Amino acid sequence: MGPDSVVEVTGLSKRFGELTAVDRVSFTVRPGRQVGLVGPNGAGKTTTLKMILGLISPDEGEVFRFGKRADRHDMEGLAKIGYMPDVPVFVEWMRPPEFLEYIGGFFSRDRKAIKLRVAEVMQEFGLERLQKRKIEGFSRGERQRLGMAQALMGEPELLILDEPTSGLDPLGRYEVITYIERLKGRAAVLVSTHLLEDVERICDDVLMIDSGVKILDAPLADIRSRPEGNAFILEVREGAEALAGNLKDMPWVNTLTVDGNTLSVVVSDVSRAGKAIPALIAEAGLELMRFVKRSPTLEEVYISLTRGDRVEEPA
Ligand SMILES: Nc1ncnc2c1ncn2[C@@H]1O[C@H](COP(=O)(O)OP(=O)(O)OP(=O)(O)O)[C@@H](O)[C@H]1O
Ligand SMILES: [Mg+2]
Repeated sequence: MGPDSVVEVTGLSKRFGELTAVDRVSFTVRPGRQVGLVGPNGAGKTTTLKMILGLISPDEGEVFRFGKRADRHDMEGLAKIGYMPDVPVFVEWMRPPEFLEYIGGFFSRDRKAIKLRVAEVMQEFGLERLQKRKIEGFSRGERQRLGMAQALMGEPELLILDEPTSGLDPLGRYEVITYIERLKGRAAVLVSTHLLEDVERICDDVLMIDSGVKILDAPLADIRSRPEGNAFILEVREGAEALAGNLKDMPWVNTLTVDGNTLSVVVSDVSRAGKAIPALIAEAGLELMRFVKRSPTLEEVYISLTRGDRVEEPA
């Protein structure tokens, strides 16, 4: 039996001058789990991923890859990791098959096996139509596709993907997400992304960081029972706009959207809101047609947690 973690970081910190980009972050990625790393721009996602890969060294804390403390001699551990950087770097004068064969050379000496693998990943990410072109002319999305392909050349046990779908057209995004989904159980994935729907679709666990600090580390299934981002859906026969006007200033209302006669109210305090909303409706003399509580989505939890954090920041 292998180790019970593919990656474990403990108390990881990184500073750039005055700025603490990653602040005492700890977490574990278990074998076969797909973990979504989310957080605002500049939160420290890319920096964290680079420390896991040994591309930058932490100021504090430790990284374990496949149960072993990471050091620069740990080539065996690194060889089991496929990495797609936020800005993939290629040998620009090469064509995709040449480049992928070159990458394949790091993992295998078997030319035939490498060529087979190249054909597989080229097909997987729609690169066949680009095979005769030099990489230097590639568009952003074409580069993302090639970036995914190179990350998979070594048939990794862990895939580290830094915003793999950014810049992709809808079909490309669908293909990448579907591919990650198909890896389920075969490879662990640690993927940073701003597309929370993608996390909801493919990830088992969610890691959220903001200003370098971990603010959430939970199985996706538990997100729906979080206190943040609970919403009430309510429908009135008329007067929805006026009601929205009354509701929006309540301290327990986080976000409010109106669609015809239906209001969706994301609240910070379910029990207060559950009592106050019907009372407000009665006071305004409005007729309530529907009143239901809905569990939070990942987006709502995200907005609530990241915004909450900012409010607490000293001015
Ligand atoms: N080499 C560096 N020198 C100075 N500051 C850096 C360096 N690398 C990152 N930073 C800073 O550290 C913080 C975290 O950056 P990081 O790239 O990890 O964020 P991120 O969460 O990946 O953001 P995004 O969602 O925009 O990709 C940012 O404020 C960034 O400006
Ligand atoms: Mg980043």
